[in-house]
Amino acid sequence: MPAAKTDKPAKIDKPAKIVLPEAGLLKLVPIKGKGRGVITTRPIRRGKLVEASPVIPMKKGDRLDRSTVLSHYPFAWEKPPHVQAFPLGFAGLLNHSDTPNCKIEADLEGEVLCIYAIRNIEAGAELTWNYGIDPWFEVAE
Ligand SMILES: C[S@@+](CC[C@H](N)C(=O)[O-])C[C@H]1O[C@@H](n2cnc3c(N)ncnc32)[C@H](O)[C@@H]1O
Repeated sequence: MPAAKTDKPAKIDKPAKIVLPEAGLLKLVPIKGKGRGVITTRPIRRGKLVEASPVIPMKKGDRLDRSTVLSHYPFAWEKPPHVQAFPLGFAGLLNHSDTPNCKIEADLEGEVLCIYAIRNIEAGAELTWNYGIDPWFEVAE
């Protein structure tokens, strides 16, 4: 990674509206059959914006080969010239479910991924969303 330049701030047309999860709310833990997953330490109410995290927009040529570990994380990103975006927050760590308790919406202008609770979620439960594509892995529920 190149060293950050400190002489001039980057030109930002529209600052991203980043929303961090409440302190201590989310935990990354091992989940049987899924690798790691995200659980909540406290109840979450339906409709809550849990996180709005930045992404790295990717062009066609940046797409990752399925043999690489990083290829499991990018989201579709329909804002030419970008076709995918690499998540930099918990959005990239939520596992898939056919009966999810969250949805993830892309804010293409703000360049953030927003995790919303679509049901009331109990403390200790895993946060999941529906990837919306045929899973490329063996699904554990
Ligand atoms: C975006 S990552 C999610 C976080 C990942 N579990 C980790 O440990 O970094 C997507 C990968 O998680 C795993 N995964 C996601 N949902 C799953 C599920 N329902 N059952 C089994 N594996 C799942 C698959 O290996 C998939 O390639």
